[in-house]
Amino acid sequence: MSLENLLNNVDTLAIVCNQWGDTGKGKFVDYFSDWADIIARGTGGANAGHTIFIDGKKYVFHIIPSGITHDRDGKINIIGSGVAFDPRVVIEELNTLDREGLSYNNLKIAFNSKLVLPQHIVMDRLKEDLSKEVKIGTTGRGIGPLYTDHVARIGLKLNDILNKDIFVKKLKRNLRDKIKLLRYIDKEKIKEVMSHEHLNKGIFYSEKDIFDVDAIVEKYMEYGKILKDMIIDTDGFIRDNIHSKNILLEGAQGLLLSIDYGTYPYVTSSDSSIRGLSKGVGISEKDVDLVLGIIKFYITRVGKGPFPTELGGKKSEDWCNSHTKKDEKKLYSNANVNSNDDFIKGIGIRLSGDEYGATTGRPRRTGLLDLPLIRYAKNINGNNIILTKVDVLDKCDKIKICNAYEYVGDKYNLGDKILEKGDILDVSIPDVNVMKNCRPIYKEFPGWKSEINGIKKYNDLPLNLKNIIDYIEGQTGVNIRVISVGKDREQIIIR
Ligand code: GDP
Ligand code: IMO
Ligand code: MG
Repeated sequence: MSLENLLNNVDTLAIVCNQWGDTGKGKFVDYFSDWADIIARGTGGANAGHTIFIDGKKYVFHIIPSGITHDRDGKINIIGSGVAFDPRVVIEELNTLDREGLSYNNLKIAFNSKLVLPQHIVMDRLKEDLSKEVKIGTTGRGIGPLYTDHVARIGLKLNDILNKDIFVKKLKRNLRDKIKLLRYIDKEKIKEVMSHEHLNKGIFYSEKDIFDVDAIVEKYMEYGKILKDMIIDTDGFIRDNIHSKNILLEGAQGLLLSIDYGTYPYVTSSDSSIRGLSKGVGISEKDVDLVLGIIKFYITRVGKGPFPTELGGKKSEDWCNSHTKKDEKKLYSNANVNSNDDFIKGIGIRLSGDEYGATTGRPRRTGLLDLPLIRYAKNINGNNIILTKVDVLDKCDKIKICNAYEYVGDKYNLGDKILEKGDILDVSIPDVNVMKNCRPIYKEFPGWKSEINGIKKYNDLPLNLKNIIDYIEGQTGVNIRVISVGKDREQIIIR
């Protein structure tokens, strides 16, 4: 099938992730930006890390949409109202674009995006450091505290940086309860957290009041001057252009990290499903003509939380959360994707797929493809799928796919149902008590054992691979419309 067929009758296209993030959204937003007139982000913030390669050069964007390199062709990129907007990060990204000689003349930012302030980053980092019970393994970008303030009705919007008096008033109000709470925490610890480069290396710290209000105001007014001309009512702009222009929506995170549909509490704090994404750019889900949900041919997860098919289980989780890419390359550079030891096999896939966080550099926990999760995701993000990173498993002798789970926990009340040891689940239930007690049941296939990254047509893919793709579709009811066989823009097969 051709790209024209895939996008026939489509005015609004959305790219979302159906797993725990890092599936290749950046690559596909860049790819579909050729088609789009407008490209918009609607959720998350600097926690996202979207990688694209242009002329062999790697770019990672955290907040600016991955369509920005198409600005030179007059494409409009939008940071929508649902986004956790951190001006420091965006200005840093703009500086990078300047250095690379890339334009951003048509970048527009929602006046009502949610404004990340230093206190959000401080609270996020302290909570993760000091929490004894639930550690989430956040990216430390202030996302949880930012959206908490929004729901608590004490948050600031980006527009506030254009009105100094209002900004000062709201800032003081926002800080009041936080300062009371922080008085119970060791000052040295707070000082240490605030010396981080994401907090402008300590300029916001005050010995007396913890936060130096004047320093925050000065910095944010400076940000306002830089960003002023880009700030507009983007929700209205998108509504005005819907169905008359080609609009591409860029998801962030993944369905299983959604605050509403993910593996709560091990999630982010915005709704990363198609529903959250549409809302975050000011439109209805019904206005989206085609949703393409990305699944990788295996799965990764960063941070904590249940992961039934994780290779190496708890050992992998602990290793990834306490080591760096450098540690791993030093100790396990020979890890093989065909190792009989699952932990090593997981490292083998991580090395082969270069699965190290684009935002934090952490090794991504790695596991096998999980059909119960695909069936679950289909209920929310629909059944049109992009399958990525297939090439990463080229060297595997065998491909194992989880088709169902056996529940191995104690008797558990789940609404009007009771789960008992030995029950079989075909569809994931993103309840932590269930997920952490699910033992995957695998089906094994012979690998294809050849390089596929130069293949352009579906029919030219190895038969063993096409058999697995047929199996995935037959078992889950999804349509795999696009297959990605390498990191570059051209390494895409449309079915
Ligand atoms: P995102 O957060 O969904 O945008 O994904 P990330 O950028 O965090 O991680 C995906 C990584 O996989 C990036 O480094 C991409 O360049 C790379 N990538 C995307 N698609 C493919 C593919 O089909 N094969 C390979 N080998 N790499 C890919
Ligand atoms: P992209 O868009 C992978 C994870 C964090 C942590 C949890 C909560 O690149 O796919 P947060 O900082 O949001 O409060 O962290 O969510 N997380 C991601 N994992 N890819 C992402 O974004 C992520 N954004 C957040 O690792 O487990
Ligand atoms: Mg990413």
